[in-house]
Amino acid sequence: MKNMLVTGGCGFIGTNFIRYLLKESDFSGRVINVDKLTYAGNPKNLFDIERDFPDRYIFVKADICDREGIARIFNDYEIDAVCHFAAESHVDRSIVSPDAFIQTNIIGTFNLLESAKSNQYRVQLFYHISTDEVFGSLGKEGFFTEETPYRPNSPYSASKAASDHLVRAYYKTYGLPVIISNCSNNYGPYQFPEKLIPLIILNALEGKPLPVYGDGRYVRDWLYVRDHCIAIWELIKNGKTGNMYNIGGNNEVENIDLVKMICDILDGLQKPKDNKSRRELIAFVKDRPGHDRRYAIDSTKLKKDLGWVPDESLKTGIHKTVKWYLDNQEWIGRVKSGEYRSWVKEHYG
Ligand code: NAD
Ligand code: TYD
Repeated sequence: MKNMLVTGGCGFIGTNFIRYLLKESDFSGRVINVDKLTYAGNPKNLFDIERDFPDRYIFVKADICDREGIARIFNDYEIDAVCHFAAESHVDRSIVSPDAFIQTNIIGTFNLLESAKSNQYRVQLFYHISTDEVFGSLGKEGFFTEETPYRPNSPYSASKAASDHLVRAYYKTYGLPVIISNCSNNYGPYQFPEKLIPLIILNALEGKPLPVYGDGRYVRDWLYVRDHCIAIWELIKNGKTGNMYNIGGNNEVENIDLVKMICDILDGLQKPKDNKSRRELIAFVKDRPGHDRRYAIDSTKLKKDLGWVPDESLKTGIHKTVKWYLDNQEWIGRVKSGEYRSWVKEHYG
């Protein structure tokens, strides 16, 4: 693979993946990062990469919904592998305004598949990043496996499910070499502070209420983003095309316990000004409509086929994450002030 198209590389997981690929992995080709730079995309996340890998990293501001633009990129950069992260990714936003989710997640994926199909003689792999949310919600027992039927409950998960089906269909119908992975909730550096973990860290640092939806007893299986990136790279190299793989952190926890854990770690690392435990900031708020009760992933296939296991436990991963946010106040300031949005406008139009 010489020219890997990474979509959504300025978002949370894409940023971590490009950093891993160029700085840590044995990949030796070029990365062409295509990102529309929505509110969630921050090109400054990769400034040092742009500086340190001038021959191996290229950024192109483009919308995956622009079919001709995407076709040109495949041509101009002789794309021979695709790693597709770009998406509208936040469930709460999809409940309020689903349109962009339908456009980007479904139509955008379709456009990429079409371009990959047109260049099939050259494209070795179309790797599609998806979510465990396509499987719906679990009760107290059981895990999602690769055989679990799709039952998406939110506009976000329904749009991701649709894109997964398209990717699968391009394998079955046209023989496009694809891999789909469905992962659990990611956390770690560079995550936009609308998702639970960075939102709680930032609010707690500012002494603001910590919103916990409903009874707080919803369960997620948390995956440290670097562990996810390692799994993706292993699958790109050694996964079987036409297959789906589940990637989970083996770290199930109820939201309320997770929020308490973050408060305690923060209290330990940076004493609150009033000496009160940050747990006192916890505020139970109105529940999310259609809120999935529990997600839990069985990653046996990935472990068996590739020997992958996550490095981080929830405790070590959360500790690293809290520390990253404490050490990156400038990043937080920029993201929160919207400074990088105006910078993007100035530089990229
Ligand atoms: P994110 O919201 O942080 O980043 C998304 C990126 O895609 C941004 O840089 C944004 O500018 C870009 N983008 C959005 N619309 C675009 C368009 N039309 N054209 C080009 N670029 C566009 O998302 P994330 O958390 O990094 O998630 C990445 C992928 O992983 C998504 O496909 C998501 O569904 C999946 N996923 C995420 C999680 C998670 O916990 N974050 C869990 C499972 C699966
Ligand atoms: P989130 O980070 O939005 O991820 P997802 O909805 O994709 O799982 O939310 C994780 C869990 O935390 C989910 O059960 C909803 C809950 N949650 C809160 O309780 N409060 C919040 O402010 C947010 C954003 C989420």
